[in-house]
Amino acid sequence: MAITSSTTSIIFSIFLILGVAISQTEARAFFIFGDSLVDSGNNNYLATTARADSPPYGIDFPTRRATGRFSNGLNIPDIISQQIGASESPLPYLSPFLNGQRLLVGANFASAGIGILNDTGIQFVNIIRMPQQLEYFRQHQSRVSALIGAANTQRLVNQALVLMTLGGNDFVNNYYLVPNSARSRQYNLQDYVPFIISEYRKILLRVYDFGARRVLVTGTGPLGCVPAELAQRSRNGECAVELQQAAALFNPQLTQMLQDLNSQLGSNVFIAANTQAMHIDFINNPQAYGFITSKVACCGQGPYNGLGLCTPLSNLCANRDVYAFWDPFHPSERANKIIVQRIMTGSSEYMTPMNLSTILAMDSEA
Ligand SMILES: *[C@@H]1O[C@H](CO)[C@@H](O)[C@H](O)[C@H]1NC(C)=O
Ligand SMILES: *[C@@H]1O[C@H](CO)[C@@H](O)[C@H](O)[C@H]1NC(C)=O
Repeated sequence: MAITSSTTSIIFSIFLILGVAISQTEARAFFIFGDSLVDSGNNNYLATTARADSPPYGIDFPTRRATGRFSNGLNIPDIISQQIGASESPLPYLSPFLNGQRLLVGANFASAGIGILNDTGIQFVNIIRMPQQLEYFRQHQSRVSALIGAANTQRLVNQALVLMTLGGNDFVNNYYLVPNSARSRQYNLQDYVPFIISEYRKILLRVYDFGARRVLVTGTGPLGCVPAELAQRSRNGECAVELQQAAALFNPQLTQMLQDLNSQLGSNVFIAANTQAMHIDFINNPQAYGFITSKVACCGQGPYNGLGLCTPLSNLCANRDVYAFWDPFHPSERANKIIVQRIMTGSSEYMTPMNLSTILAMDSEA
């Protein structure tokens, strides 16, 4: 018995050592920053109402359990992980299971409710705002460093893929949170957008300073077209005008800012994903993408199933694959797959300066 267990532990140790060597040469690490569109469960560990840890969330996830992802199944980081050949999706940074070898896969720092600005999502109280997500990135690097050394850690971060998804909440859960919000009295929309873009730029430069060299930055979707806004701000099912205007101002300025950063840095570090265009395809023509509706959420209540939260008491559709929206704000797993498909192989209409498959191919030749 004693011999067996010590043999097992030696074999296990060898496996661990080999594991380190193998994962350094295998799939690149993947780090995720942002809001509920990319949160994989950090908020489960926090005292906040911004959470997705009870059914029917996760109803189509492999485990059929709610994980904290704001999806019926996989979310965008999960699908990107699969596409880049990662062994598993990066765990939420707050997960107690994120240790040992798993640190080398990367980490997900995202937290539902947050935005570019510190006071976005203030009503969710205890969420991981951007300065803290960046602080966790720093902590993660020192934990990796303890495992594989500083030089290997630097390389791991330089070679990693980073995903940043921010901005929607700076409108929905800040500027437009309440009618006549403090922020909307401080700035008109034309001035607010350049302000949050300049704050976003500072965040991106910090990610660069931490060693990130391939950063995929998504714009906002068509904010006014989600079931929640159709229910609250639309009279006849047309996308809510102000939020559409906000997205129309924000997305091109974001792409421009990323292009300027790249020219300053002399390298295509930042890659813009035009998620607005990706969504509009199936919002304007849901049938062409196999959806029966892009207006009604699968899970919710009230007009368009767009009011309140998705809970065990909500209406729930039978087939999640035929709904573009899973809940009042978040795309279904099938919509997420369409979005990631565009990120991977989309033309220049969707991806600036190039799509992710081109990036991966270039990096593997480097
Ligand atoms: C957000 O908070 C961080 C750290 O607390 C601070 O450094 C930064 O200036 C704040 N940003 C704004 C726009 O107030
Ligand atoms: C991906 O981007 C590359 C470079 O821009 C382009 O040549 C290729 O056609 C794109 N993939 C698809 C499927 O459009």
